[in-house]
Amino acid sequence: MPARIFSVATVGLDGVLVEAEVDVLSQGLHAFTLVGLPDTSVKESRERVSSAIKNSGFKPPHQNGRITVNLAPADLPKQGPVYDLPIALGYLRATGQLEFDPESKLFLGELALDGAVRRVNGVISAAVLARDMKFKEIYVPLENAEETSLIPGITVYPVRTLFSLVAHLLGRELIEKFIPHDPIAIGPDPHGMNMSEVRGQEHAKRALEIAASGGHNTILVGPPGSGKTLLARALPTILPALSLSESLEVTKIFSVAGKLSSGKALIRLRPFRSPHHSASAISLVGGGTIPKPGEVSLAHRGVLFLDEFAEFPKSVLENLRQPLEDGFVSVSRIKGTSIFPARFTLVAAMNPCPCGYAGDPERMCSCAPFHVTRYREKISGPILDRIDLQVSCPRPKIEKLEEDANGESSESIRERVEAARSIQTIRFEGRGIHTNSEMGPEMIREFCPLDDNSKMVLRGAVSELKLSARSYHRILKVARTIADLSGAEHISLDNITEALQYRFRTEQ
Ligand SMILES: Nc1ncnc2c1ncn2[C@@H]1O[C@H](COP(=O)(O)OP(=O)(O)OP(=O)(O)O)[C@@H](O)[C@H]1O
Ligand SMILES: [Mg+2]
Repeated sequence: MPARIFSVATVGLDGVLVEAEVDVLSQGLHAFTLVGLPDTSVKESRERVSSAIKNSGFKPPHQNGRITVNLAPADLPKQGPVYDLPIALGYLRATGQLEFDPESKLFLGELALDGAVRRVNGVISAAVLARDMKFKEIYVPLENAEETSLIPGITVYPVRTLFSLVAHLLGRELIEKFIPHDPIAIGPDPHGMNMSEVRGQEHAKRALEIAASGGHNTILVGPPGSGKTLLARALPTILPALSLSESLEVTKIFSVAGKLSSGKALIRLRPFRSPHHSASAISLVGGGTIPKPGEVSLAHRGVLFLDEFAEFPKSVLENLRQPLEDGFVSVSRIKGTSIFPARFTLVAAMNPCPCGYAGDPERMCSCAPFHVTRYREKISGPILDRIDLQVSCPRPKIEKLEEDANGESSESIRERVEAARSIQTIRFEGRGIHTNSEMGPEMIREFCPLDDNSKMVLRGAVSELKLSARSYHRILKVARTIADLSGAEHISLDNITEALQYRFRTEQ
């Protein structure tokens, strides 16, 4: 009789049930075959499993005849070493070395040659599947136990070694259930740079406050050394705290991407990702033979900071259009399509021209007009249309830099951001979104009504400046956030005019 053990594959961010079936023919020549679309890391599992079994004191595969392992469903590609543990248990069961009831139990884990169990990726997706499919117990590597236990309603057993797991399943020496630690408060980034250290740039700071409150995309444009990178680096200190449900969403993505460090089960800080401009399209939006989330998904519910924006290849930047609009990326491969969430706030920084001084009142720009145009064309109209707050960062005056008094601290800015975010949390309760920037046309109609005066000003600006329908909606959403920052229920004319001015930069 073949033995059947349950495990999980990760497809995109979701878990899919996998059955490891093991059949052993004790007679004949030794052969160990693995079928069911395994990739190289799964095929190599034969060597790890064989050594781990031998070194744990059991009768190893090479002393048996023909061993066949089938990972079902056979048409689903399998990747990674998570099946080591279920394959080993299936073999032990099929050879009569281990008697236990495998129903309602899920097993995941990589085996070391000495039989120790090593951490794997994607256990949160596995735990979600276990809960949804009404499994009772999930057995994971000790190092993954904390993150698995984030999903309530399923008993987590932390496994150190194959031997200890067999002793547990035989009822000889039980492994204790994993008891999660109390969730610790999720707060701001304690290590970031304080906004008070950035001198001047009040206009840009205000824009970043609005961006942090409502999740609006922002671009900072200015000459070299004016503080753009500095401002963006200080942004994490004013971002609102992650809610527990947001934190779980983010943690799941990091878990699938294999980016959770051990001992750090829950992502507690809002993500702030800053990929270099040499990043490939795949690393930015996700992909690979078996699709993995990219930077846009790792920045989900947080900030994607693209410094030196114009240095990114245009073809790479164009990939941002769909996620910026939809809040997710869909990665198509021959082996299927995966959808990853990507609801991030884009913050970009760039110079206005190749020399960096176009529009500077005191320093001449040395670029030929053709070069300036070509430089700016790297950022296409559709990308710019998706950026709500377009801000100039002029060179700070020397007097500003010499001033002793610090500007407003991150802590005090953050208080306003948190208050504005709470208003949005209440507003969007049960509607599946968190921030003003995510509102669709229906919600904009509901939450952004304007008085006649404001309507007239906005209508005038839209027709005068030939703004797109998207810009029109985006201006309303920014105005909503500005009103929330002042605690106002209705959007005022001032809010609309402030939102409008962020659509254009003066040096253009
Ligand atoms: N507004 C400012 N307040 C305080 N220091 C500043 C400011 N602007 C620039 N500096 C100083 O200049 C350095 C460079 O600033 P930053 O890297 O932010 O410039 P940048 O605008 O990103 O320039 P580039 O366009 O070359 O990337 C900072 O490390 C800091 O020492
Ligand atoms: Mg910079």
